[in-house]
Amino acid sequence: MSAPDQQQDDFFKQDNWFTKSVAWVDARFPATETFEYHMSRYYAPKNFNFFYVFGWLATFVLVLQIVTGIWLTMNYVPSGAGAFASVEYIMRDVEYGWLMRYLHSTGASFFFIVVYLHMFRALLYGSYRGPRELLWMIGMAIFLALMAEGFFGYLLPWGNMSYWGAQVIVSLVGAIPYIGPDLMDWVRGDFLMSEATLNRFFALHVIALPLVLVMLVFVHFVALHHVGSNNPDGVEIKKNKGPDGVPLDGIPFHPYYTVHDIHATVVFLFIFSVFVFFQPEGWGYFLEKPNFQEADSLKTPELIAPVWYYTPFYSMLRAVTFPMFGLDAKFWGFVVMVAAIIIPAVLPWLDRSPVKSMRYKGKWSKFMLAQFVVSFFILGWLGTLAATDGRTAAAQFFTITYFLYFMLMPWYTRIEKCKPEPERVTFSGH
Ligand code: HEM
Repeated sequence: MSAPDQQQDDFFKQDNWFTKSVAWVDARFPATETFEYHMSRYYAPKNFNFFYVFGWLATFVLVLQIVTGIWLTMNYVPSGAGAFASVEYIMRDVEYGWLMRYLHSTGASFFFIVVYLHMFRALLYGSYRGPRELLWMIGMAIFLALMAEGFFGYLLPWGNMSYWGAQVIVSLVGAIPYIGPDLMDWVRGDFLMSEATLNRFFALHVIALPLVLVMLVFVHFVALHHVGSNNPDGVEIKKNKGPDGVPLDGIPFHPYYTVHDIHATVVFLFIFSVFVFFQPEGWGYFLEKPNFQEADSLKTPELIAPVWYYTPFYSMLRAVTFPMFGLDAKFWGFVVMVAAIIIPAVLPWLDRSPVKSMRYKGKWSKFMLAQFVVSFFILGWLGTLAATDGRTAAAQFFTITYFLYFMLMPWYTRIEKCKPEPERVTFSGH
C-alpha cells in the first residue's frame, strides 16, 4: 500500500467528529467511495509532464466562464436596442463589471489556448489510440460544442464585427443546395441578422451549450477514469500491476497530482492576469477593433475576420475559390472547413503505428506533426488578413498540407522505423 493510502486508512480509523460525520454521510451517499475512485485511489502514471495540466486547466476555465457569465447576464440586455449599451454599462457603471467582462472575454481566448494544447498533447503521445478512442471522440464533441459556444457568444455584444462575423458564417448555410436559403432564414429567425437572431443566440450561449458542455465534460471524466490516463511514453500502466492490484507505475492522483495541478493553476493565473489587467484586447485578437462600434447593417467592416481561434478554419473556407460539380465555391469552402474541424475524430483509426508516443515513433510521424502545426499556425495568421491572390495561394497550399497529416497517416505510420517502446514508463524524480 502506498504511503498516502496508508495515511488515509489510519486517518479514518480515528474516532472523532469528522470521521463520524463522514461515516454518517457514507451510509447514505457514496462520498468516500467516489473520492477514492476518482482521486485518492485513482492511479495515474508517475511520469506525467507539463502537457498533462491542460485537462485540469480546461476544467478550471470552464468554471470561470460559467461563473463570470452568470454575473454578466445579470446586467446584459439581450435586445437589438439594448445589447451594445448594456455591455458599455457593464464596463463603466457596474461595480467590477469591467473585471467580469474582461475575465470572460480573455477567458474565451485562454479556453482555446488551453484546449488546443490539450489536443496537441494527445497528438504527441497518441492518447487518442485504443482503449481511449471514445474518450477522444467525446473530446471532439466538446471541441465542437466549444466552437459553437464561442460563436454564439460573440454575437451578444452586438458590435459591428459580432454582426458581420455571424452574418458571414450563417450565410454559409445558404450555400447548401436546395434547402440552403430557407435553412438560413430558419437559423436567423428572420430575413437578416436581427433581434430574433440575437435572442436565440443568447438562449443557446447562456443555457443550452453550457449545459451540453458540462454534461460532455462529465462523460469525458467518466470515460477517462474507466480506461485510465495515457502518459508521455504511451505505455499502458495497467499491464504491470503489483500483488495489491495497483499499477506499479501509478501514483494516487490525490495528493500527488492535485498538488501538481494547483501549481499549474497559480502559474496559469499569473499569465492570465497579465492579459486581463494589461492587455485585455489581446492586441485586437481577443476583442477586435470593429466591435467597439455598434452593429450596423449598412456598414460592413473593412475586413471581416473571426476571432483568432477560428482563423485557421476560416482560412480554409476562403481557400476554396472555384466552383465544382455545379456548386459554388462558397459551398465547397464550407465543406472543407467542416471537414477540417471534424477530421481529427477519426485519428484513432488512421494511426497504424506499433507505438503510441512520439518519443518512439519514426521520422515521418515527427515531420508530419511538425508540418501540421506549422500549417495550422500559418493558416491561423492568414485568416486574420485580407485575402490577396498570394495569400489565397498560400492558404490553398497549407490547407493541403493540413489534410495530408491525416490522410497519409495510415501510410507513414506503417512504413517508418520506430524505436522499441519500453516495458515500463521512464521517469526520473525531480
Ligand atoms: C472543456 C474541455 C475539456 C476539458 C475540461 C477536458 C478535461 C480533461 C481532463 C481533466 C483530462 C485528464 C487530465 C489530462 O490528461 O490533461 C483529460 C484527458 C483527455 N482529454 Fe480532455 N478535456 C477537454 C477537452 C478535450 C478535447 C477537445 C479533446 C480532444 C478532442 C480531449 C481529449 C482528451 C484525451 C484523449 C485525454 C486523455 C489524455 C491522456 O491520458 O494522455 N479533451 N481531459
